Amino acid sequence: MSFSALRAPLRNARVANPLKRVSPFPKAQFRASFARNYSTPPPAGEAAKSSSTGLYLGLGGAAAAGLAYFFFATDSGKETGTSVKSGVQSAKVAANFVPTKEDYIKVYNKIAQVIDDAGEYDDGSYGPVLVRLAWHASGTYDKDSKTGGSNYATMRFEPESLHGANAGLKVARDLMGQVKQEFPWISYGDLWTLAGVAAIQEMAGPHIPWRPGRIDGFAAQATPDGRLPDATQGADHLRNIFYRMGFNDQEIVALSGAHALGRCHRDRSGFEGPWTFSPTTVTNDYFKLLFNESWVWKKWDGPKQLEDKKTKSLMMLPTDYVLVQDRSFKKYAKQYAESQDLWFKDFSSAVSRLFELGVPTSQWVSSEPWIMPTVEEQEASKEKK
Ligand code: HEM
Repeated sequence: MSFSALRAPLRNARVANPLKRVSPFPKAQFRASFARNYSTPPPAGEAAKSSSTGLYLGLGGAAAAGLAYFFFATDSGKETGTSVKSGVQSAKVAANFVPTKEDYIKVYNKIAQVIDDAGEYDDGSYGPVLVRLAWHASGTYDKDSKTGGSNYATMRFEPESLHGANAGLKVARDLMGQVKQEFPWISYGDLWTLAGVAAIQEMAGPHIPWRPGRIDGFAAQATPDGRLPDATQGADHLRNIFYRMGFNDQEIVALSGAHALGRCHRDRSGFEGPWTFSPTTVTNDYFKLLFNESWVWKKWDGPKQLEDKKTKSLMMLPTDYVLVQDRSFKKYAKQYAESQDLWFKDFSSAVSRLFELGVPTSQWVSSEPWIMPTVEEQEASKEKK
């Protein structure tokens, strides 16, 4: 299949002027005024709830030819009891249940619905924060010690949930908690990475090959703080962090293009604002803007970040700007600014690999990753029948 055939058709709904993109999702249309700095403060007690010790172990059917372990994080003794009970119930179901691709498509569709049902949250979509959850769950991988990665979904536990880099992700974990209630057989690692895939695809990005097989682990499998990148640093730091995961310069640049999506929140990372004018649509605008706009250091009381000279409404992190300063990074950034098709292709394969980091081959339920159809593609294929 050609790569262009894999692309989500919604992408074509965009208009020509990159600075005036119209999102294909009416709900997700960007609020051009930027009147709000950020719209959604994190709920009180960020990460405090979701990370208590998990107690429940149940039999699941998804991973490793039908033998996957799941357990449920709980808050208090009383809730633990309830959770164990419901866990036992779901284990009973799961013991005789081997999910098929169709079952995972049902989960995908539920996630797509949740993404769109964001009301006043940020730019009207939970998509970007779900992409960030999937990436932070995966990006802790260390190729030498083979620790970290998406396998055990250890961000459910303290202290990983409290690591500075994960500030704000409780929003995304809680959302996925709701989906998990409806589909108790899926592991958190599969659910979070599938959410990242659904978010990218439903926001008009490329297909991201994905397959299930991650299992839920324990707090002891969490990785130490400091494995995710620090946005205040430079090229050497980016290389240290991403080479440790097994990526090269080209892949670092391709992955960074995810910042076409979403925004920084003062009360999460300390930084502020979106990278592009269409933060709920996957485009190569991030690269175009890096080259086509003049970027100046923002004068404010926050951490060092850049703003575009013309509108002062967009931002770049020091680690974004380094992509047009470092010679090797710049070569790839230029190619991606010139060709969205090329970036889609490279982004798709790098993200697919990112989301599989830390998962032993023996755990995958299929030898090759699947292409999950978008909601629009599913509807179109129903119409054909
Ligand atoms: C290259 C190193 C990277 C650094 C230093 C970095 C840093 C950051 C920071 C500081 C934020 C703002 C968080 C907030 O305040 O809410 C952010 C958001 C985001 N990052 Fe990255 N990131 C990096 C790579 C990536 C990668 C590889 C991906 C995905 C493949 C990604 C996806 C996102 C998304 C989608 C958001 C927006 C989240 C939202 O709108 O809530 N980032 N990143």
